[in-house]
Amino acid sequence: MRPAGRLTTVTCVILGITAATSRAALLTSPAQLSSSKKYDYIVVGAGPGGSPVASRLSEDPKVNVLLIEAGPSDQGVLDIQNPFLAGGLQGSPFDWNYTTTAQKGLNGHTVAYARGHVLGGSSSINLMVWTRGSRDDFNTYASVSGDSGWSWNSIQKYFLKAERFVPPTDGHDVTGQINLKIHGTNGPVNLTVANAVLPTDSHVIATTQELAEFPFNVDSNSGDPLGVGWILGAYGNGVRSSASSSYIDPFLSRKNLDVLVETTATKLVQTGTTKGLPAFRAVEVQQSSTSKNYTLHATKEIILSAGTINTPKILLLSGIGPASQLRSLGIKPLVDNSNVGQNLVDHPRLSNQFGVLNVSDDVTDTVLRNTTLFNELLGEWMNTNPHQGVFASSGANQIGWLRIPDSDPIWKTVKDPSSGPTSPHIEFLFSPGNVPNPGEVALPDTGNFFTISTVVVSPSSRGSVTLASKDPFVSPIIDPNFLNTTFDAYALNYAARASGRFVSAPNWKGFVTGQAGPFAEVDLTSDESINTWVREKTSTIWHPVGTARMGTCKDKKSVVGPDLRVKGVDGVRIVDASVLPNVPAAHPQAAVYVFSERAADLIKKGSCVC
Ligand SMILES: Cc1cc2nc3c(=O)[nH]c(=O)nc-3n(C[C@H](O)[C@H](O)[C@H](O)COP(=O)(O)OP(=O)(O)OC[C@H]3O[C@@H](n4cnc5c(N)ncnc54)[C@H](O)[C@@H]3O)c2cc1C
Ligand SMILES: *[C@@H]1O[C@H](CO)[C@@H](O)[C@H](O)[C@H]1NC(C)=O
Ligand SMILES: *[C@@H]1O[C@H](CO)[C@@H](O)[C@H](O)[C@H]1NC(C)=O
Ligand SMILES: *[C@@H]1O[C@H](CO)[C@@H](O)[C@H](O)[C@H]1NC(C)=O
Ligand SMILES: *[C@@H]1O[C@H](CO)[C@@H](O)[C@H](O)[C@H]1NC(C)=O
Ligand SMILES: *[C@@H]1O[C@H](CO)[C@@H](O)[C@H](O)[C@H]1NC(C)=O
Ligand SMILES: *[C@@H]1O[C@H](CO)[C@@H](O)[C@H](O)[C@H]1NC(C)=O
Repeated sequence: MRPAGRLTTVTCVILGITAATSRAALLTSPAQLSSSKKYDYIVVGAGPGGSPVASRLSEDPKVNVLLIEAGPSDQGVLDIQNPFLAGGLQGSPFDWNYTTTAQKGLNGHTVAYARGHVLGGSSSINLMVWTRGSRDDFNTYASVSGDSGWSWNSIQKYFLKAERFVPPTDGHDVTGQINLKIHGTNGPVNLTVANAVLPTDSHVIATTQELAEFPFNVDSNSGDPLGVGWILGAYGNGVRSSASSSYIDPFLSRKNLDVLVETTATKLVQTGTTKGLPAFRAVEVQQSSTSKNYTLHATKEIILSAGTINTPKILLLSGIGPASQLRSLGIKPLVDNSNVGQNLVDHPRLSNQFGVLNVSDDVTDTVLRNTTLFNELLGEWMNTNPHQGVFASSGANQIGWLRIPDSDPIWKTVKDPSSGPTSPHIEFLFSPGNVPNPGEVALPDTGNFFTISTVVVSPSSRGSVTLASKDPFVSPIIDPNFLNTTFDAYALNYAARASGRFVSAPNWKGFVTGQAGPFAEVDLTSDESINTWVREKTSTIWHPVGTARMGTCKDKKSVVGPDLRVKGVDGVRIVDASVLPNVPAAHPQAAVYVFSERAADLIKKGSCVC
């Protein structure tokens, strides 16, 4: 993981070499839609939720699909394609640039809240970490929805269908870095382990031999993620694999799949009534707040895949949500559901920085401080096929998943918020460089760093997304409610101490110099000192889910049923991260891809559960 906003030398260069590939059915204005073509399905939003379902539904040539994306095409954008440059995409032209409300649990500070605004959605700007989650995470999805099809065992076939393991470009033997038996080999999303060795690799792995607290796990995607091991990344051949490049781009020549970019869905439109329920089989779209609006109709379904922030926003703008909240904004409530926009759950992140003795052991700062070296490595990537070198990888090679032990005093007063014993409470991400927290200098002039970013992956805080205005071009109010609970703050305190224990393993002697940068001020023997650090410095690792959560047919606290159809409404389904009832104890994109893969099958079968 790398910090945001560091790229000044090369930002979003359009690469001539890739711009010529197929994009025939890529439309840039609703005016280009054929007025005689009838769409069976309209999918709103082209991230890991919308892209797979649009792609799979269009496998049947008799089915017409329109995919609408608010952001631009990702085609030919170097910073999106290159894995090493991923950290520079926050605050770029491909980000919605959201900001949270002042967070009470973070001493009142706000948090920059990146979301992808581009074909591929957040998978075009994310850090590519591919983690499936734990057995207990999915078994909980099955139990809260009453549908065993979401269980860990049932969902495996969709992981296999989505994945394609691609050997690393440096040709190294991956034995001991991944269990190839459990991964797909022919799916659209390319996955690989690092294409380049980082100087901290051997130390992270040696620590798993030296400290029993941090055992080695050869593959955290087995359903049993606990331990430390190698990162599987959503890239292959040295190029990012996004929802767009994997599920949309290769299929644009299909005559029955139209993709409309730079177009925002502003609301669903009621088209009738089915068995007493309002039917919404049309969507209003606009290219900007001042441009003409269009109403587009689907004969079968509208599929909302605008993500955890924008799916509830569209529902609320359409009159589907808490009636009193809608009335107060001058929106006529059509379907009263108090859960729309509630239950937002995200992973809080805190970076803990250590110093390293040798300049070249801090890879990211050394590269980003030296334009000559930067251009040399970028040149190496550009001039090799498959791509080689540091720029062919994401800049972080290992990840760790820990549980706070059963013997810990916290459990005397707090109930375990994790989905079960296979789910971690805490994540470690190891980066050879400085990963700043908010308010810290992104690229310090001096110093060489190794950062352990820590994340609470089983948080108990819950927040919300609400409307600020009935104007669809005004950002919603985003409140993740970070560190609202005793547990979440405690877990980051625990993780900061654990990061100190990690680098105290014997093998780091003479390599790590101790706590560094702003973290140097923190006394790891003092709760008061650590808690100040936690409240001042915590931000996000951008994993919000849950604002349109799935529940059983009868569950009054949910927005969609087990088949992802919106309750109390006919003709609308939600397929994106907003339906996850809880955040997986993992980076969530893999979960969203498999929810979308299974949703496509449910739609094809025409199953209506509730
Ligand atoms: C900076 C960052 C780093 C991340 N790192 C990782 C990681 O390493 N690993 C991981 O697993 N996950 C990561 N994530 C999270 C992961 O990318 C998301 O969980 C995932 O993309 C969610 O998929 P989605 O389809 O629900 O939403 P999104 O991917 O956000 O897609 C929603 C799409 O809908 C579009 N849209 C929104 N509103 C409208 C509208 N009104 N009309 C038309 N289109 C609209 C958006 O522009 C967007 O393209 C990261 C996210 C970010 C932002
Ligand atoms: C986000 O900010 C960047 C940098 O200022 C800008 O280029 C981009 O257009 C913004 N995104 C949106 C959706 O407005
Ligand atoms: C994935 O890798 C395969 C085989 O190496 C390649 O043909 C394909 O284009 C890649 N897909 C993406 C999305 O990069
Ligand atoms: C869309 O356009 C129609 C016709 O011009 C207008 O009546 C309606 O108010 C517009 N809707 C929005 C949200 O601007
Ligand atoms: C610093 O790192 C480089 C590259 O790994 C290595 O060649 C060199 O010996 C190291 N220097 C010291 C003083 O450890
Ligand atoms: C910058 O990188 C170049 C190319 O690797 C190297 O020759 C040069 O010494 C570096 N400059 C500094 C100040 O480290
Ligand atoms: C926790 O969140 C609730 C709901 O937003 C809020 O009322 C409460 O003040 C918060 N408590 C703390 C300690 O942050």
